[in-house]
Amino acid sequence: MTNSSPMAGTTELRSGEQSVGSDIKANATLTFIGRIRTPFLSREDCPRQGRLDGPECRLVLNPEWADSLKGLADYRLLEVLYWLDQSRRDLILQSPKFDGETIGTFALRSPCRPNPIGTTMARLERIEGNELVVRGLDCLDMTPLLDIKPDRCLFTEKAPAKARQSTF
Ligand SMILES: C[S@@+](CC[C@H](N)C(=O)[O-])C[C@H]1O[C@@H](n2cnc3c(N)ncnc32)[C@H](O)[C@@H]1O
Repeated sequence: MTNSSPMAGTTELRSGEQSVGSDIKANATLTFIGRIRTPFLSREDCPRQGRLDGPECRLVLNPEWADSLKGLADYRLLEVLYWLDQSRRDLILQSPKFDGETIGTFALRSPCRPNPIGTTMARLERIEGNELVVRGLDCLDMTPLLDIKPDRCLFTEKAPAKARQSTF
């Protein structure tokens, strides 16, 4: 066992870790809408969680999605969803601190999860064509971009209240 973080294709387990095995079914279809450009070239470079005062990063949308940014400049905070493409996806239990304690995957924000979706709140600095300059990312350069949503609270202010709130 090494001290490096597990990456795609790695099968080694840390002390106490448990894998669901290699036969997991991965069958949802997503489309990548672009790539995230960050100064983080290795996982060691990445912060564990992004910070709104972090370095400028770019959400580079594929050109066909450029018009989908219409209206987004009204928002200061964006929710960004991305695909942590270099993660292993089989871990049930993980030992994030190498201290012998194991924790369930869904009790962690680890990138290693069956569907490795990362989310962060990012501060929108400016929009340049089909590129958004933001702060608050914690992912590797060229991480695939899944979705961008306006901040929930600001969005609620702009939209009329719904007559009846569902509990679902
Ligand atoms: C702990 S995760 C948090 C992601 C997101 N903020 C969240 O809470 O869903 C962030 C870590 O994932 C790792 N990471 C970043 N980009 C990755 C990628 N493309 N594939 C796999 N792991 C990545 C880095 O070690 C980084 O510190």
